[in-house]
Amino acid sequence: MNVLLLGSGGREHTMAWKITQSPLCTQLFIAPGNAGTAQHGINVQVSPNDFEKIEALCIDKNIKLIVVGPEEPLVRGIYDYFERKNINVIGPSREGAQLEGSKAYAKIFMEEMNIPTAGYKEFTKATETQGLKYIANKTPPIVLKADGLAAGKGVLICQSIDEAQNELKSMLSGKFGTASTTVVIEDFLDGIEFSVFVLTDGQNYKVLPVAKDYKRIGEGDTGLNTGGMGAISPVSFVDEALMKKVESRIIQPTIKGLQKRQITYKGFIFIGLIRVNNEPYVIEYNCRMGDPETEVVFPRIKSDILELFQATVQQELDKVVLDIEEKTAVTVMLVSGGYPQQYEKGKIIKGIDKVVNSHIFHAGTKTDNNTVVTNGGRVIALTSFGETIQEALAYSYQNANHIQFEGKYYRKDIGFDL
Ligand code: AMP
Ligand code: GLY
Repeated sequence: MNVLLLGSGGREHTMAWKITQSPLCTQLFIAPGNAGTAQHGINVQVSPNDFEKIEALCIDKNIKLIVVGPEEPLVRGIYDYFERKNINVIGPSREGAQLEGSKAYAKIFMEEMNIPTAGYKEFTKATETQGLKYIANKTPPIVLKADGLAAGKGVLICQSIDEAQNELKSMLSGKFGTASTTVVIEDFLDGIEFSVFVLTDGQNYKVLPVAKDYKRIGEGDTGLNTGGMGAISPVSFVDEALMKKVESRIIQPTIKGLQKRQITYKGFIFIGLIRVNNEPYVIEYNCRMGDPETEVVFPRIKSDILELFQATVQQELDKVVLDIEEKTAVTVMLVSGGYPQQYEKGKIIKGIDKVVNSHIFHAGTKTDNNTVVTNGGRVIALTSFGETIQEALAYSYQNANHIQFEGKYYRKDIGFDL
């Protein structure tokens, strides 16, 4: 079968690598892709949000399956658009994508299904005064979340009542555009975070390997938030007992909630979790895979991913087996100097040929006159396996030295806290 993959990051290179290992894959197209995805298929310069152009491409290339990397096309309703055209999409319907597209929607959903999450209230301009009073009665830190998609920047953790009140006013006055027309104010949960990924067909589900990502730019988890500087899988503190709680209190009620609302959902659910006193709480839902979590989760999936996707489309996920690699996977992200703030692009990347014992997953790269150059903040993810996390990390860090580009930066403490 011919497959189209949407997106251009490390997540998508990893997916492209995995999809093309399937004997079911005849030809892979990636829109728009990067220098890494081009090793596995044909990059097409089409935006993942341009459904009409994607449709034309599908007709032209006889594509019957679209795998969606990022959230935006899903929140914009790509599933619903192609459902009418008889082209299968791995991803939720527009309503299902609201679990990520609207924090308020997700909160109401969790409340209804009794899924453990932080206490909250939502406010709009019309209820701003009540919001300010609500904050005045709280003990900091206070968590403010823009309801809509805000490019990963819509969550603020305020250390004082003053700061939280000022931020609420500014969010309701358009700090994040229409994304912050509604603001969710949440109780602060103090604990350690981890990520659980589920592939569901709306009835059945498979739990994928658990992962932890490292979000801050600086070592010791300091400095600005990024898309993610590295990830590990499995996660030592997420033991069987904790996963059982996650499954019974969170995953199963989530699937039941989708069914109760008659939501079509044939794709990934990424559950951002926090462990507080050994109990799991949901921090957020995403309707897609994580990046860089995919760079450790997908390599640990031994099963044929297209077989899993086909079973998802046919609502027969209960009939396939998910086989997982036992070894530990880690990924270390090499980023452009200045990221997550301003950085330069177009730096020549050298040393890719010197990498041994790691997978190279391209994120922000492109090919310019036969040369691979940087084309984004996150540039290359180096994924390695080991019998122990230390062994895996040693490979990734050796190779992080081999790859050179002007301004290269990476965190040297991925996985060191565990
Ligand atoms: P989100 O975009 O919802 O994942 O939030 C971004 C980050 O903010 C999370 O990864 C957490 O580190 C933090 N965060 C979000 N909600 C809370 C909360 N209720 N308590 C503590 N930290 C939170
Ligand atoms: N690494 C976090 C995310 O993909 O949202």
